[in-house]
Amino acid sequence: MARSKSDDAEEIKEHAKLSKSTLNTGLKIFSYTKPYRTYYIVGMFFLILSTFTVMGLPYFLTGLTELALNKPFFVLGKNAQDALFIINDKFTVVKILMVILLLQAIASFLRVYTFSQATERTLADLRGAIYNKIITLPSPFFENNRIGELTSRLSSDVSNLQEVLSITIAEFFRQIFTFIIGFGLVLFISWKLMLWVLFTIPPLVIIAFFFGKKIKKIAKETQQILAKSGIIVEETFTAIAMVKAYTNENFESKRYKVAIKEVMKRAMKSAIFRGSFISFIIVGLFGILVFLAWKATGYVQTGDLNISDLLQFVFYSIFIGGSIAGLGENYGRIMLGLGATERISEILEYESETQIRVINPTKFEGKIEFKEISFSYPSRPELPVLNEINFTVQPGQKIALVGSSGAGKSTIIQLLLRNYPLNKGNILIDDKDFTAYDIQDLRANTAIVPQEVILFGGTIRDNICYGKLDATDEEILIAAKKANATEFIERFPEGLNTLVGERGLKLSGGQKQRIAIARAILRDPAILLLDEATSSLDAESEKLVQSALNALMEGRTTIIVAHRLSTIRNVDEIIVIDHGKIAEKGTHQELSNKENGIYNNLLRLQFSVN
Ligand SMILES: Nc1ncnc2c1ncn2[C@@H]1O[C@H](COP(=O)(O)OP(=O)(O)OP(=O)(O)O)[C@@H](O)[C@H]1O
Ligand SMILES: [Mg+2]
Repeated sequence: MARSKSDDAEEIKEHAKLSKSTLNTGLKIFSYTKPYRTYYIVGMFFLILSTFTVMGLPYFLTGLTELALNKPFFVLGKNAQDALFIINDKFTVVKILMVILLLQAIASFLRVYTFSQATERTLADLRGAIYNKIITLPSPFFENNRIGELTSRLSSDVSNLQEVLSITIAEFFRQIFTFIIGFGLVLFISWKLMLWVLFTIPPLVIIAFFFGKKIKKIAKETQQILAKSGIIVEETFTAIAMVKAYTNENFESKRYKVAIKEVMKRAMKSAIFRGSFISFIIVGLFGILVFLAWKATGYVQTGDLNISDLLQFVFYSIFIGGSIAGLGENYGRIMLGLGATERISEILEYESETQIRVINPTKFEGKIEFKEISFSYPSRPELPVLNEINFTVQPGQKIALVGSSGAGKSTIIQLLLRNYPLNKGNILIDDKDFTAYDIQDLRANTAIVPQEVILFGGTIRDNICYGKLDATDEEILIAAKKANATEFIERFPEGLNTLVGERGLKLSGGQKQRIAIARAILRDPAILLLDEATSSLDAESEKLVQSALNALMEGRTTIIVAHRLSTIRNVDEIIVIDHGKIAEKGTHQELSNKENGIYNNLLRLQFSVN
């Protein structure tokens, strides 16, 4: 689903070229295989062993034919003088064949096993490295990249690589060995016949190659159209409530029908091509085979070739043919894998913002100063969002940010969390430039209760614990109580162990917020950030959440973003933001006495609505 048209276009491009940089990045990723090199080397040994034993099979099988014709079987030689040894009974050959088969079985198993050991370990390391990289990247990265694409890098790109590392490379080498050995043997058996093969087969292969390319292109187009119809399915299923509410079942059904009809047409076109391809191959290939058989029997009649040699020739030719076909296919796969490594190493090369480590910060006092902050988001540098923002919050003080939607309130909170680099001005915490602190220590001293609380899949306990991973049950219960959450948690039969999140119980907005508050209480931060924490609640839940928040704010520096002015009467200072500027500043008393003040107007508006 995550694959898009552009993905495919990229894939084709990467298919086409093997540039130096692709190879370089590819090799960089292969450094992840380093710790497991021994496995690869051992695997390679078994690979060579199994290739050789397979190549021995036809040799001894045709030996059986010799014996069936009542002739002795000369091993490695044409006659009694130069033979390594001479076999006169079939049973010996059968025993040799059994040994070959056994060796082959053991070598094949060990090859797959050791290559898998190496690959799976390499990939586990790589997956971990990509994940760790992504979660330590700064926020703007996630705005510039679609989440779907990122997860696809973790899954499909790594899977591509998995195929390359575990199967393709091994196969590639096996096919090269098979080709070289087979070709040598065939030339040795009858170079005359081989010349005929070389005259006839390659032209067929070249035509088939271009034919195949065309078929692949059509198949890809079909895939793309299919993906488009998939989007309709995904959209309508996720927004099924909207489809029903607007009674658009008929509309969607038609839309889907049009899409799948298009898929069908494409598929039929591709079927015609595939059908002709198969006919062409059958006629071409068997035509050539008939021709070669005619030539070969001629050589047998003239005594240039004996029957068992002819049999060997056929066997090894089949091996060679198989290896050529396999080489083409695996070359494509290796190119795909290299494309994947390029996308993966692109991520690995970004600079991390944070580290994977245990955080043990020193506690802040909680004094915050914004000095001459002007800011625009990196994605839209031409659009000023904040303009000359100055304010100070003393340790333990509470301030509120109010102002119309889009004024820049949430942005102030984002900046304080160092989610974006500052453009101008600076922020002091406890009288020190906030970049002087380790970014994770800084964040560890804050807790945020957002408007839209997102719960992780897991239990209520897990979600509260997210604020302090090593919290005891008692601490969790105290936090839940302070957050006014015990009342509803206890009503669930499983209490704290109730599953929530996507697969669990659905909680109401107010319940989620109280869990988020409990989480923040557990964290016990010096600085508390509340972004419209009560705006989506009814009066009853608002009262509960508000009293929970009051408990949480106790003794902490707090910045509250509020739309409902009733919730911020008692704060130390209210800052009115208007179009990224501070328009008014003061206590509730001061601002509500201001004739024509923005705050005063807002207050009157909300009063009249209520
Ligand atoms: N990640 C972002 N990238 C680019 N622009 C953004 C980003 N986030 C917000 N903005 C823009 O910055 C401006 C201020 O947004 P902000 O979220 O701070 O407003 P707000 O005061 O919190 O509004 P609301 O009350 O609706 O939450 C808006 O014009 C918004 O479009
Ligand atoms: Mg906001």
